[in-house]
Amino acid sequence: MAPQKLEDSASRHATEALKFDAQGARGMAVASYQKSIDSLLQILRLYPACKLASLYKERIASYQKRITVLQSSHGAEPVLDPTAPPGEQKRSLDGQRASNSFDELIMREKPNVKWDEVIGLEDAKNALRESIVYPTKRPDLFPLGWPRGILLYGPPGCGKTILAAATASELDGYFISVDASSIMSKWLGEAEKNVSQLFTMARGLTEREGKPVILFIDELDSLLGSRNSEIGGEVRTKNQFLTEMDGVSGKGKNLKMYVAGATNKPWSLDDAFLRRFQKRINIPLPSLEARKSLFELYTAPLKKDVRVRTAMLAKLFDGYSASDIKDACQGVQLKVVHDLLGSPEYREPVEGEAPQQPKDVTMADFREVMAQRKPSVSAEMTRAYKKWSEQFGAL
Ligand SMILES: Nc1ncnc2c1ncn2[C@@H]1O[C@H](COP(=O)(O)OP(=O)(O)OP(=O)(O)O)[C@@H](O)[C@H]1O
Ligand SMILES: [Mg+2]
Repeated sequence: MAPQKLEDSASRHATEALKFDAQGARGMAVASYQKSIDSLLQILRLYPACKLASLYKERIASYQKRITVLQSSHGAEPVLDPTAPPGEQKRSLDGQRASNSFDELIMREKPNVKWDEVIGLEDAKNALRESIVYPTKRPDLFPLGWPRGILLYGPPGCGKTILAAATASELDGYFISVDASSIMSKWLGEAEKNVSQLFTMARGLTEREGKPVILFIDELDSLLGSRNSEIGGEVRTKNQFLTEMDGVSGKGKNLKMYVAGATNKPWSLDDAFLRRFQKRINIPLPSLEARKSLFELYTAPLKKDVRVRTAMLAKLFDGYSASDIKDACQGVQLKVVHDLLGSPEYREPVEGEAPQQPKDVTMADFREVMAQRKPSVSAEMTRAYKKWSEQFGAL
């Protein structure tokens, strides 16, 4: 990976980590800090003499310190008594919710993303609307039942996560979001127990409240991954997951619970998995039109030169993902701020005087930022998604 990409990935995960940390989702925060550390370590391995090496080392140390704090303040572990009958188990889960360390793995609050803040992806939106919104509104129209498993797959940074979040805020319901790699985290105890707790909790919630619940599992492929070193642990976790999925579709046809999984490695999911995700929705790179809208969205707060044309930017940034485009707009913002604050003419703001402003952003600024950032998805990867879609996609 190029250093720019590694740095992007380190900063993205660090931002996520801080967000989870602030929300008290400790498991997710730890997983994200760890991913950020991994990227930084990789940069240091590849470019030990780079300019920012000491800054990276500092960051690594501070994230590591935070992980230690989060893990040590981690309360007593398992919540479920495995010997209790299922009904009892559920009660004990409810009763201990407040002190439950497992709770820290998940985010249960309603996401604050609107449906139309997700640009493009019309097919995906329609498919989600059909498979979640309709059956929830009129279950009586679905005597044959409906699919509960929805797989969102595609290249990184194109909207899988925000689309799932937007669907949940569209519904009057609950959104439970969990990162599969944090389920697999060894320090939280047995992953399979986490899986079964997760489903029990989601099912309990929808049964009790009568509202739909979307259980969103990000990075689904890591349930099959090699992170968990415990021998046989992965197989057991995977089987537990498959069993739980069957439970959701089989039990009571009107259960308003959905399992949405996201992955950018759909080919690593096996047949057993795929069968349980009857809807398989591709989240591709943004089209020309979508790129134009993305530029409109992300440059709206910037002061632009009159010659900046979003249609032209959209053409220029062919092959870039939505999150690449967001990063590029941020890059342009940083560039003009840098030019201002670094200029010898710059004066610190004084009271009673309007502070100096950066120059308007120009097409040249965008071109320059673009030259420094390659698209994060290669043409080869795009072909791989297309091929997989032809074989396994199911709208
Ligand atoms: N379709 C989109 N419309 C608007 N913004 C988008 C869109 N897709 C991505 N973004 C921006 O990029 C960020 C990353 O997107 P998101 O997390 O949804 O990607 P993802 O497909 O889940 O990627 P990954 O596979 O890496 O998890 C979002 O927070 C949002 O700011
Ligand atoms: Mg995502």
